[in-house]
This record gives sequence, C-alpha cells and structure tokens, in this order.
Amino acid sequence: MVSRRDILRTGGAALMGGLCAAMAPVRASEATRAAAMPRLRTSAPPAVVPYGAAVKTAKLYADPAYTNAILQRCSLIVGEGGMKWYDLRPDAQSFSFDEADRLAAFATRHRLELRGHTLVWYGAMPEWTKSIASGAEAGRLLTGHIETVVGRYRGVVREWDVINEPMAEKARSRHDLREGIFQQRIGPRHIGDALKVAASTDPACRLVINEYDIEFAGAQYRAKREAFKGLIMSLLDQGVPLHGIGLQGHLRGELEIDTHGLSQFVADIHAMGLEVSVTELDVIDHKLPGPEAERDAAAAARVRDFLGAIFAAARPAAILTWGISDAHTWVPMWFKRSDGLPNRPLPLDFVYRAKPMMRVIDEFRAYKV
Ligand code: XIL
Repeated sequence: MVSRRDILRTGGAALMGGLCAAMAPVRASEATRAAAMPRLRTSAPPAVVPYGAAVKTAKLYADPAYTNAILQRCSLIVGEGGMKWYDLRPDAQSFSFDEADRLAAFATRHRLELRGHTLVWYGAMPEWTKSIASGAEAGRLLTGHIETVVGRYRGVVREWDVINEPMAEKARSRHDLREGIFQQRIGPRHIGDALKVAASTDPACRLVINEYDIEFAGAQYRAKREAFKGLIMSLLDQGVPLHGIGLQGHLRGELEIDTHGLSQFVADIHAMGLEVSVTELDVIDHKLPGPEAERDAAAAARVRDFLGAIFAAARPAAILTWGISDAHTWVPMWFKRSDGLPNRPLPLDFVYRAKPMMRVIDEFRAYKV
C-alpha cells in the first residue's frame, strides 16, 4: 500500500504502482454505494457510475419538464441552494429549513440520494456573520450549525460537502487558504474541527472537501492541485475524518485540461484511501465559438478530456452536473457571452434534449475500468 509519505517523497511516482491496491477499498465503497443507490431510471446504458445534478428546489415542485428530466436521468441530486448558510441562517440564533426540507422530501419521495451542499463556504455567508468577533464565538456558531443541520438530515443526506473551496484562488501551498470568516477568526484548524463535528453528528455520513480549478494546464492550476493535495494529506495525518474529494469541474471552455496532472492527482487521492467525485460539472463557454453545433462539440470535447483523465486513474464515485438544462444555469451570472448568445454549459439544451456532452457523460458512466 503506497503511504502518503511515499507520495511526497516520490512526487507520486510510486502511486501508479500502488493504484490497484489503493482502489480496492474505494471500489468496495462504490459497490456499497451502488447497492444502496435507488434503481436507475435512465434510458442510457446500464451505468456503473451514478449520475446526478444540482437542482433548484422550487422548480422541482413547479416545472414538470424540469422534474421529469431529473427523475429520468438522475439517481442523486444536490441543492443548488437551500442548504447554504445564507439559506439556513437568518440570524445567529435561528434556522430556516423550509427549502432544505422540501429538497429532502423530494429526494426521499423519489428515492434519490441527496448530497448536502455545503456546511462551510466563504461564498455563502449571510451579512450578520461579519460581526462574529472572536474565535470562541466563531467556534460555537460553527459547531452549533453543523450539529443542527447534519443532525436534522441524518440518514437523508448521506454525503456532505463539509468544506467548499478551502484553497485561496492562487494557492501555492496548503497554508494558502480562503479568507472566510472561520479562517479569519479560528484559523486553519476550522477545517478539521468542522469535519470532526460532522463525523460525530452523523458517523454514517460520507464527508467531502470540494474544490474547483484543479483540472487545468498551467502553473497556477498545477500549484493549486499540489496545495490542495498538501491540505488533504495534512488533515489525514492529523487523523481528521474525511472520505472523499469533490472536483467541482466548472470547466473553462478556453482552457486545456492537464490530463496527466489531473490523472496523477486522482491517483494520489485514491492512494490516500479517499473517493473522488465530480460534483459540479459544466462548461463555462463564454469564450467558445458562437455557433451551437461547434460550441456544443467543443464543450463535449473538454468534458471528454476531463472525465478521461479522471477515469484513467480511477472510476469516480459519482458524476454530477451543476444543473441539467441550459434553461437553468448559474453560468450567465458571471460569464455572459459578449455576442449576446445564451450560454450552453449543461448536458441538456433549453428544451431538455440531450447534447453531445450528455452522450459523453453517459459513455463514461457505463465505463468499466
Ligand atoms: C451557485 C449557485 O448556482 C447560484 O445559484 C448561487 O447564486 C451562487 O452559488 N461553486 C459552488 C456552488 O460550490 O455552490 C455555486 O453555486 C457555484 C460555484
């Protein structure tokens, strides 16, 4: 079995040799996951890797075409919103669970696995959290939040993005962390603390750290991959409970995938005994050509490079896209096209027809490594 120290010492070279041994426990957990997964509804070939999507809870109850697309293709879902701090916490004393409860009820009713997103994310903190004045106050709030939320959905949410985007934008070492309020008030140990509280609240829940910009070619992204790996190893060395790593997979259409670097990263993570999931896949296409067929082909090619690099190292535990149809995507919030054409980041088009990207995802889902 390749040790974490071997990874550091050999830059991962020892990894590929140890990959098969490392994959065995992951396969076992995937088999467990697969056995526990609800029956697939898709018309796609029998899948080995579960597919899911981020959903807008209100649409699940209001838009039949949207809901049917989710039920026909997904065996797991995650709330695009509903379970973030700004959804749940109107103030330091109270919780608002309406949307999260409706999301959980939908997943339970349709026997869909539900991912929890997310317990700690600098990007979703309500205004009042800026007034958190001390490490002690921050620790009490963080612990209370996780105990209350994870406890409420114990047995319904079987996997949490406990920490979302911990690394600084241009991280160069494991110490380069995002300056969220918990990092500012508590410091780096807030990450291990959050994972420990989640584990003690729901020992059966899979705990994940989720990150983006891990897949691209170039010095900045290679440095972030290594920094992220360093954080993960330091947590495991401290005995912090952690089961998986989420690669968000918001692919910038104009950026090459570092297929070797990504494969090596996935192999390294598996060698540490952790699962890898694709958690928020879409293609940010504002810099891709305008014509639909050309753009869809370019987006699908990026997804093929991305999934191909991951599968070359090991089968991911799941593949989720951040939305399912171009009709409902976050991408234009930040990446509108200069030609005014609508973004096409997702596997189904505006009227829920499968695009080349969906066929690539289905191809990999049936892939038996
Ligand atoms: C986004 C949602 O899609 C938006 O609707 C919301 O306004 C902001 O958050 N990475 C993440 C997700 O982990 O939580 C973000 O979701 C997209 C980027």
